[in-house]
Amino acid sequence: MKIAVVGGGSTYTPELIDGFARLAPFVSEIVLLDPAADRLAAVGGFAQRLLAHHGSAARLRWTSDVDDALAGAAMVVVQLRVGGQAARISDETFPLICDCVGQETTGAGGLAKALRTVPVVLDIARRADPGAWIVNFTNPVGIVTRALLDHGHRAAGLCNVAIGFQRRWAAGLGVEPSAVTLDHVGLNHLTWERAAYVDGVDRLPEIMDKHLDNLAAGLQIPAEVLATLGHVPSYYLRYFYSHDAVVAEQRGQPTRGALVADIERELLALYADPSVVTKPELLEGRGGAYYSEAAVGLIASLRHDDGGVHAVDVRNNGTMPFLPDEAVIEVTCRVGADGATPLPVAPLRPELAGLVGAVAAYEELAVEAAVRGGRERVYAALLAHPLIGQHDRAARLTDELLAANRDHLAWL
Ligand code: G6P
Ligand code: MN
Repeated sequence: MKIAVVGGGSTYTPELIDGFARLAPFVSEIVLLDPAADRLAAVGGFAQRLLAHHGSAARLRWTSDVDDALAGAAMVVVQLRVGGQAARISDETFPLICDCVGQETTGAGGLAKALRTVPVVLDIARRADPGAWIVNFTNPVGIVTRALLDHGHRAAGLCNVAIGFQRRWAAGLGVEPSAVTLDHVGLNHLTWERAAYVDGVDRLPEIMDKHLDNLAAGLQIPAEVLATLGHVPSYYLRYFYSHDAVVAEQRGQPTRGALVADIERELLALYADPSVVTKPELLEGRGGAYYSEAAVGLIASLRHDDGGVHAVDVRNNGTMPFLPDEAVIEVTCRVGADGATPLPVAPLRPELAGLVGAVAAYEELAVEAAVRGGRERVYAALLAHPLIGQHDRAARLTDELLAANRDHLAWL
């Protein structure tokens, strides 16, 4: 099977390749696609050494030619970043002028990223083979996946938040990761773990009992929030539960984008060094832990129709009855050749349902704005976002967003 990796020049790519090399013998050909030829050569060369190191028979090559990369690919992994880290740093800073969180997937920064990204991803998907699976890691994953599905593509969205909890809790409980089934609910980067079943028994109450303070500290979310909900939120919920505190903290700190740019420079130098044949430890400084295992697990289930259980971004289709069917949700699913089907989801507590409903409405408007353009659609999406919500902020952030992204928005 041929896999195309769009955004293959990413410093994350070796993580993915490592997963294919160890866990996906069915992959015979990997093509890395990226417009940045210099990054491709460094990442591609290293990826070949990684495959050889693991004794993988998969062939790997790289190209900047979209149609060459996509032709015959049954799986298209999309992990691109339009505008690179410079655009990310913009997303992480412009919202601060209105005392709103500066983040690449949450709030106004996330909308900016969606506007830049959706048209590019739709163009890639349109050029892929009919019937190819688009496995989307590109943030904001919920919005990008919804746009793909709205346009009739076979797409599934992925994030590593759920697999991270699953792996850590399995280790803590002394069981195999596959023995832990999470009740993972919400939207991408707006999820909660409500249960962790092992042999049909929910072990989350015990985990929360024993480790509440540690869990809360790791997420940088007050323990009182976890205790009140009885759930474990993803660390992205910090931008909601501690919004103003995060804004204050961000004002005095370098952006995550700037830190990542430094890590990337070092990683690319390591990748270009022919003596480096295994994944550098420095890669763990990025947020993508277990990303390759999530991708390989999902791709294997789509390919082998094995009914594997994975957290996936899929159409709601009645799973959460208070949301439109077309909304894209992130829940634990059973995955076969026809895609991912949510496991039954018990009703959400009002604290969760309120937030999920509001953000899903924002995401619907964000897709509209990204696909159709127009200042008024950008404003409408920001007005609907629960972290923005007021006219003055929405109007000012619309102007700032458009000014900062002028070079990336064809409709401007
Ligand atoms: C987590 C999220 C990803 C996000 C990444 C950022 O893995 O699930 O969606 O892209 O963190 O990591 P970075 O190292 O780029 O800050
Ligand atoms: Mn994610």
